[in-house]
Amino acid sequence: MAYPQHRLRRLRQSPAWRRLVRESVLRARDLVYPLFVVPGEKRREPVPSMPGVHRLSRELLVEEAAAAVDACVGAVLLFGVPDRKDALGSEACADDGLVPRAVRELKAHHPDLPVWTDVCLCQYTDHGHCAVLTPDGALDEEATLPLLARAAVAHARAGADAVAPSDMLDGRVGVIRAALDEAGHGSTPIVSYAAKYASAFYGPFRDAAHSAPSHGDRRTHQMDPANSDEALREVRADLEEGADVVMVKPAGPCLDVIRRVKDTFRAPTAAYQVSGEFSMLRAAGERGWIDEKAVALESLGAIRRAGADIIVTYYAVEAARWLREDG
Ligand code: PBG
Repeated sequence: MAYPQHRLRRLRQSPAWRRLVRESVLRARDLVYPLFVVPGEKRREPVPSMPGVHRLSRELLVEEAAAAVDACVGAVLLFGVPDRKDALGSEACADDGLVPRAVRELKAHHPDLPVWTDVCLCQYTDHGHCAVLTPDGALDEEATLPLLARAAVAHARAGADAVAPSDMLDGRVGVIRAALDEAGHGSTPIVSYAAKYASAFYGPFRDAAHSAPSHGDRRTHQMDPANSDEALREVRADLEEGADVVMVKPAGPCLDVIRRVKDTFRAPTAAYQVSGEFSMLRAAGERGWIDEKAVALESLGAIRRAGADIIVTYYAVEAARWLREDG
């Protein structure tokens, strides 16, 4: 017998019952808060297209992380935004680079806050691509993979609790896993951006990270938004290479993909509510066109319902506070 819908309506008459019969729950500890670190001191640079989001120098980053601790979010995800960039993205691999130093500082002040690091070259290369380029301007995967591995090892050595490769080059998870194991970081997990679409929703992030490609786009290595079988192949490949958590990105436009990935692999699954998704809600909220808190929590709840165990979101700290307010 199918459960008759009128019984659920009867149950939903009180808030206590609505909670008891709710199928999925959004919790602060499932949220991951992205942070942007810049070199120097006392730098707090607002990102114009992401109101409320800032690029921070290390000591201010530590303060922002205190808010994350206070809100009980699950982790922070760190992005480095260096001042100096070059063709090889050299800063990305340095042991005393921007991100490793920030990780050390965060771990010193907030030892219990899990710190994840984004591993990619696009914030570090002067051309803004996620890889080193061949003389004719194509992505040089062979030259790039060892650099990504070195960056990941530098982050792990600094104390990162997980590394998150976001470049979408073939084979990167395996190469990073091997390098971590060899360097004695066999217990550092890899959160792989496994199903990452070539999405226009990343626009504001490229503003935040100064990482817009100077020519061309990322459509050769990021996925076509029209595809979802392709997402399953990408996720399978990353799991086979050693990914511990697989991520779908963006989140809101890909709820169907999150569900397919979760149902197919039953692996720990993350989804990234990206910059453009955040900025749209923020902007409409600022204009009074929508109730920002309500739509933000509904959007995050939908991502959870679709099957995400973990949600990376610029709303993490605010959402955690809202959830607390609502008991
Ligand atoms: C690449 C990276 C990007 C994002 C996360 N990691 C940008 C890109 O692929 O162009 C986007 C996140 C967002 O839009 O919030 N290092």
